[in-house]
Amino acid sequence: MDNLYLLKFGGSAIRGKGDMMRLSAEMAAMMKEGKKLILVHGGGPEISEEMERRGLNPVKVCGVRVTDRDALEVAETVLRRINADMVGCLRESGADAIGIPGYFCTLCEKKAPIKASEGGEEREVDLGLVGEVADVDPQPLFDLIGQGIVPVVYPIGKDAAGNMLNVNADTMAAGIAVGIGCSGMIAITDVPGILRDVSDPSSKIDSLTIAEARALMEDGTISGGMIPKVESCIKALEAGVPEVRMVNGKNESGIMSEGRGTIITG
Ligand SMILES: Nc1ncnc2c1ncn2[C@@H]1O[C@H](COP(=O)(O)OP(=O)(O)OP(=O)(O)O)[C@@H](O)[C@H]1O
Ligand SMILES: [Mg+2]
Repeated sequence: MDNLYLLKFGGSAIRGKGDMMRLSAEMAAMMKEGKKLILVHGGGPEISEEMERRGLNPVKVCGVRVTDRDALEVAETVLRRINADMVGCLRESGADAIGIPGYFCTLCEKKAPIKASEGGEEREVDLGLVGEVADVDPQPLFDLIGQGIVPVVYPIGKDAAGNMLNVNADTMAAGIAVGIGCSGMIAITDVPGILRDVSDPSSKIDSLTIAEARALMEDGTISGGMIPKVESCIKALEAGVPEVRMVNGKNESGIMSEGRGTIITG
């Protein structure tokens, strides 16, 4: 589908009605220009806070949440609430929207244990009930988009046996972006882009090749939540998504304006 863009926001970048209305207004304006949109969102900090409220211990390894049954239940509850809020804001901004879980349009499978290196020591970590996108059914998304409706996806997947899985929102976004063949993917996060020094917002890298991005993951410049984000961008590019960008959701003067953030190129 031409002129179709997948946007993804994280829970730190867009949080609360003010942020959601700012994003919704930009999305409504993009739709007026003739762009078609799909939105995928996470909810990292709010999920962690709710886990703590319930006496659970939030743990992330390489930017991905270790998920047991309790964590999955919290993630689903919190993500559904954020989803409903975002759908409400889009409608208030004049953009028709419908909230759907990832399993409405994807088939997921449990992610294999990952190799995590901490303090120079490499160990294998089983992330638990964490999924990856194995297959996408684009038709339900095309049906909604064809009617001028924005699908707003929260990243809970299911495997072939119907077991629910928590999927990192960047992973879900790239899986869907590849499966529907969109014109571009924009990841909205809480930093200006990929930084050479995480503590220095002025160290933003304007553009990176896949090879350069891989090198920055290798040498540890890219860490934490930036890892699944960059991996997702690479996956999308390699599968033929022409344009992949990372931008700052806190930018009051326009989140998705041209020339903002970091572009990764093939
Ligand atoms: N080189 C880097 N450049 C920029 N950010 C980096 C880098 N390395 C690590 N990070 C971290 O990655 C974070 C973004 O990923 P994070 O997963 O926290 O956010 P998100 O995916 O937008 O939201 P969510 O909380 O929903 O997952 C930044 O806030 C920053 O702390
Ligand atoms: Mg994240």
